[in-house]
Amino acid sequence: MFLTKEEEKMADGEYGETIRKSMDILIALGDIYGAEKFVDIKSAQVSGVSYKTIGEAGLEYLQDLAAGAEIIYNENGTISDKSGIATISATLNPAGTDLDNWREFGFPIDFAKKQVEICDAYGALGISTTCTCTPYLIGNVPRFGDHVSWSESSAVAYVNSVIGARTNREGGPGALAAAIIGKTPLYGYHFDENRKATLSVDVECKLERADFGALGYYVGQIVKDGVPYFKMQNKTHEIASGNLKALGAALASSGAVALYHVEDITPEYGNAGLEEVDEKITVTKDDILETREKLSTAEGYADLVCLGCPHASLEEIQEVAEIVKGRKIKNELWVCSSISVKAAADRMGYTKQIEDAGGHIVLDTCMVVAPIEQMGYEVIGVNSGKAANYVPSMCGLKVIFDDIENLLDFE
Ligand code: F3S
Repeated sequence: MFLTKEEEKMADGEYGETIRKSMDILIALGDIYGAEKFVDIKSAQVSGVSYKTIGEAGLEYLQDLAAGAEIIYNENGTISDKSGIATISATLNPAGTDLDNWREFGFPIDFAKKQVEICDAYGALGISTTCTCTPYLIGNVPRFGDHVSWSESSAVAYVNSVIGARTNREGGPGALAAAIIGKTPLYGYHFDENRKATLSVDVECKLERADFGALGYYVGQIVKDGVPYFKMQNKTHEIASGNLKALGAALASSGAVALYHVEDITPEYGNAGLEEVDEKITVTKDDILETREKLSTAEGYADLVCLGCPHASLEEIQEVAEIVKGRKIKNELWVCSSISVKAAADRMGYTKQIEDAGGHIVLDTCMVVAPIEQMGYEVIGVNSGKAANYVPSMCGLKVIFDDIENLLDFE
């Protein structure tokens, strides 16, 4: 890779160990993927946060990296220099616990303590510990065409497809290194030619609610790491941002999709090169129904209904609040979201409506990266194709995939 003089100094350790180690990672990635140079980025989103997924080795790595990071102050208390601290807007993916209310929700104590240490290390590196997979709902919102380095697969799919910023499917260490350096190797989805459609998908039926996750799961298996182009029966106003985030999350979980286009909706569909696409499939109502059935590994009663995969927006929390308002839920109910979205839900009264019905808005974590298998739950109810795909493999628990009303039991 070509390095500027300044990048060479960073790589040689002139600005400290944290920057040197970060450059090592980025140069290695650049070499692996054939990047010729770096590109400046506007934002980073860093995965690899839950103690369940990164364990003791990940914690030690982060603490070691954070030990080399420092902020140098002037005598009057203003910041003179930062070394090894994130230089751009950077947010964290979900952790393994609700960071503030882990006792209330019964998270294991030892696990929760480790989780706090992990988040402290990220905080010392200047990564905002907002712990969400929907950072675009809470202010980490790049603009169309911006180069970014994001690593949570559902967020990658959203930021590439719906916002039109440009990222590869980064790993956690790569996105962290990019946050610190403010650059990423220039290859892959950063180039126009790699953002063209590879598969045309004609969806023959109108979709509702959890159907979007089922569609994503079905097509992800076929398209793998390609770029699907969807033609929908739904009118554009019938497809909400929440539907797109559910679609992208499922595509990225059953396949390795980083980018998709939806005709008349996503910003780059007109440049997707549809006329050049040879491979075409149609998706029927039967395909959606069969996929919905296949995504469930149990039926009947879910002892924990866990919504918000990817993390719920204010509108999605409102929807849950309207369903449960004035009723008593039998199941345990978690609506997973971020601290900023919950603040808005508190203001709007949605949190109270959900809590009065016996449910909770759980922050910072989710049904996949939390240690729910250690918390006494057996059957998890989800309305997300991604969660339905991962709960059995990541948690070893049974899952029921359905729309919210069908998952909840009321007294
Ligand atoms: Fe987010 Fe967890 Fe789903 S990280 S996308 S809520 S599996």
